[in-house]
Amino acid sequence: MAVRVGVLGATGAVGQRLIQLLDPHPEFEIAALTASSRSAGKTYREAAKWRVDSPIPEDVAEITVRETEPDAVPNDVDLLFSSLPSSVGAAVEPDFCEAGYVMSSNSSNARMAEDVPLIIPEINGDHLGLLEVQRDERGWDGAMVKNPNCSTITFVPTLAALTEFGLERVHVSTLQAVSGAGYDGVSSMEIIDNAIPYIGSEEDKLETESRKLLGGFDGAELSHNDVDVAASCNRIPTLDGHLENVWVETSEECSVEDAAKAMRSYPSLDLHSSPEPLIHVFEEPDRPQPRLDRTLGDGMAISAGGIRESTFGLQYNCLAHNTIRGAAGASVLNGELLLENGYL
Ligand SMILES: NC(=O)c1ccc[n+]([C@@H]2O[C@H](COP(=O)([O-])OP(=O)(O)OC[C@H]3O[C@@H](n4cnc5c(N)ncnc54)[C@H](OP(=O)(O)O)[C@@H]3O)[C@@H](O)[C@H]2O)c1
Repeated sequence: MAVRVGVLGATGAVGQRLIQLLDPHPEFEIAALTASSRSAGKTYREAAKWRVDSPIPEDVAEITVRETEPDAVPNDVDLLFSSLPSSVGAAVEPDFCEAGYVMSSNSSNARMAEDVPLIIPEINGDHLGLLEVQRDERGWDGAMVKNPNCSTITFVPTLAALTEFGLERVHVSTLQAVSGAGYDGVSSMEIIDNAIPYIGSEEDKLETESRKLLGGFDGAELSHNDVDVAASCNRIPTLDGHLENVWVETSEECSVEDAAKAMRSYPSLDLHSSPEPLIHVFEEPDRPQPRLDRTLGDGMAISAGGIRESTFGLQYNCLAHNTIRGAAGASVLNGELLLENGYL
């Protein structure tokens, strides 16, 4: 029987992607949708300005949108996906967990909390064990798992593949698509014929979330990886797909061939939304490119290319679909991991 799931913030850009990925889904069935009080009481069709590249699912379109509060969500919903603005998430997500709901959240609030697992299942699924600590400390019957920022998810899998060579220092420069800022995030007058070398708080997210993801878990607490990471973030006029230029210094020698082999052979998982292979490595020096490569693995694959040696260590480019692998798909995959590990 499918697990009954709810989507918090279902009318937004990421909420719509969640619905696209969940209807249909072999393990999950949409049972509740919430948004702000502006949308509550309307059908989903009325409340959401549907902008995803597939038709609105007819059964979901007729569901009545609820207020985003625990009492408004039926008790037989077992898993919540949250795509709320982070200020709203910070205010309401803990109430849902206290009320007994298990939550896979995409919002940035609490990502760095020491008792909240920040998870990319193929990289650090073992951090899920931190939920026992979280439940003990907070007295929750529910639980909260987060996925990282979209630009963090793009480069961390390639770093994970290189850890065997001893990560010492990483520089990353991003070229991020406009969808990452949400539908109303960047005006066309700002971004057409332009590039914006600043995305508020983004650099800090790449630098801190990557160290948490690549850290260890000893059954009681997390240790963060001590690799130095410096990030520079740019918004460019692509629609979807974050491209990143990465420089990595390692303690052990790592040739171009070693790096390509390590990335290609980095294992995927036997979860519905996990792609095979996880990292697609291109031989062509001008790939990956956002328009051509963002839908690899149904938007869940990481791609890499242009691997070469440089004065600053190994250099390469990587890419991921920011609203699928970087947001909605990441939350769904974390939901699948929670199910596989008996949390639902
Ligand atoms: N866009 C991306 O690619 C991306 C990538 C990674 C992470 N994220 C994160 O994902 C989250 C959602 O982003 P988004 O782009 O989908 O935002 P969005 O399009 O603005 O959608 C926000 C959603 O939250 C609801 N909401 C707003 N205020 C609320 C309130 N006070 N109470 C209850 N619900 C409220 C909205 O409902 P109404 O329609 O009723 O206003 C809508 O459903 C954010 O935390 C963002 O940082 C986004």
